[in-house]
Amino acid sequence: MTGREPPAAAAERAARLAAIHAEAFAGPHDTPWSAAAFAGLLDQAGVFAVEARDGFILMRAVADEAEILTLAVRPAARRAGEGRRLVLEGLAGAVERGAVRVFLEVAGDNAAARALYAGTGFVEAGRRPGYYAAPDGSRRDALLLALNLDGALP
Ligand SMILES: CC(C)(COP(=O)(O)OP(=O)(O)OC[C@H]1O[C@@H](n2cnc3c(N)ncnc32)[C@H](O)[C@@H]1OP(=O)(O)O)[C@@H](O)C(=O)NCCC(=O)NCCS
Repeated sequence: MTGREPPAAAAERAARLAAIHAEAFAGPHDTPWSAAAFAGLLDQAGVFAVEARDGFILMRAVADEAEILTLAVRPAARRAGEGRRLVLEGLAGAVERGAVRVFLEVAGDNAAARALYAGTGFVEAGRRPGYYAAPDGSRRDALLLALNLDGALP
């Protein structure tokens, strides 16, 4: 748990995640999250991160449900399996914490993430039309994806 980390280590971690997130979400419709936002999230109950060299996954596991809050891999490191490994490690962490069902939201036009999540067993459980607003005023649908773990990892 990050709550037990020394403050300097927690701040370094939040800065590291924010730097990767900014690289990964650098498109015109993207909103990178600040180091302060990551620090605040990592302080919340049930929130945990799994880090790899060029990416990370941030999740929250509460009671028997978990949520993927964000997933990011640096552009230069993509299509080498890191995103998939992070999702699988994140799911394992969620199961360890008692989750039997995992949710996430993804933009409907995010083909890469949708393919990755479909490949790890997530299915569409809902849609929020126009949920994501970009700085340019455009709006994109959010898809709600769900995965039942039932004690077994994909
Ligand atoms: C989505 C993201 C994390 C994928 O990371 P990655 O390390 O490239 O993913 P992987 O190499 O593990 O790819 C696993 C599978 O996902 C699918 N996939 C990944 N990138 C894809 C792309 N650009 N187009 C289509 N399918 C893609 C493929 O099925 C791929 O398997 P394959 O390479 O054997 O064909 C990365 O593109 C990213 O950081 N994007 C920006 C941030 C983002 O959208 N995060 C998710 C928000 S919910």
